[in-house]
Order: sequence, then C-alpha cells, then structure tokens
Amino acid sequence: MTPSTRSANLLIVSENHLRGDEMSNGELIENLNKAMSLELSAVIQYTQHSFLISGTDREVFKDFFRDMAEEAQDHADFLGDKIVALGGVPTVEPAMIRQSVELKKMLRQGLELERAALEAYMEAWRSCGDKDLPTKFWLEGHIADEQLHIEELERLTSDRVAEITSDKIVLKEVS
Ligand SMILES: [Fe+2]
Ligand SMILES: [Fe+2]
Repeated sequence: MTPSTRSANLLIVSENHLRGDEMSNGELIENLNKAMSLELSAVIQYTQHSFLISGTDREVFKDFFRDMAEEAQDHADFLGDKIVALGGVPTVEPAMIRQSVELKKMLRQGLELERAALEAYMEAWRSCGDKDLPTKFWLEGHIADEQLHIEELERLTSDRVAEITSDKIVLKEVS
C-alpha cells in the first residue's frame, strides 16, 4: 500500500466513523454545535467589548469582558472536544455577534447571548436522554455555569433602586 493509498483509506475510515456515530448522536451533536456557535460568538463579542469599553467604566469592565471571553473560550474548547468524541465535527461558524460602545447595551447583549447559550445547553441535555449519563452530567455543570452568568448580568443590568429613607439611617457619634 503506497503512503497516498494509506492516507486515502484512513480518510475514508475516519469519514465512515464520523458518519456512523453522527447518525446515532445526530440530535445531540446538532444541539452541542448550536451551543458551540454561541460560545464562539461570545468569545468574539466579549473580546470586542473589552476593546470598545471606554471612560471610567474601562477600569472595571475591560477585565470583566476579557474574563467572560476567556470563559467562553474554555467552554468552546470543551464543546469541540466533546463533539469530536461523539463522532461529530465542531462548527466554525459563530452565531450573531452584536456590539455597542455603551456599557449598558454591551451588558444586555451579553445577557441575551448567555440566555441563548443556556437554552442550547438545555436542548442538548434534553436530547441526551438516559443513554449517555456522563455527557448529561457534564452538561449539567455547564448549565449551572451559564445560569450564574445570567444572574450576574441580570444584576448588572437591573434598574432596581433600593428604597432607603433618611430616617432609617443611624449615624454613630464619634467622641
Ligand atoms: Fe459558556
Ligand atoms: Fe456563559
């Protein structure tokens, strides 16, 4: 067997392998790839917002957006490896990327992305059934992570104003 025939055979074998597994895990892989697209767009969107944030907000939010981008990249890495382990091919297409120069809008856009990612992970979890418990448990960890991101962004975008009246404030006298 010449080296070129061998590599052609290897290619056919790996394509067959991917096709066979893809048929059994098709729905799960499709849903994981939806999450993958959203994580890829989160990497780009958060990184872009870390560039665009300006003024005094930059002091805090540049690092906030960079950290979120790093976490999304970690999630994309895990997803890519998992999709290949299941016999699929990870997508290289990010979902929609939105950008703004206004902090509140950046945070709202991040929140929408996190909610969409949570939904994609939930869909993947539902398509897992009981046939692949390790993947199901792994997804539960991700779902918990995304929920924490959502709650943090909800707090950051909240317009709730605490009601404090002056008669409730007691000042200590310093002698
Ligand atoms: Fe994520
Ligand atoms: Fe997230």
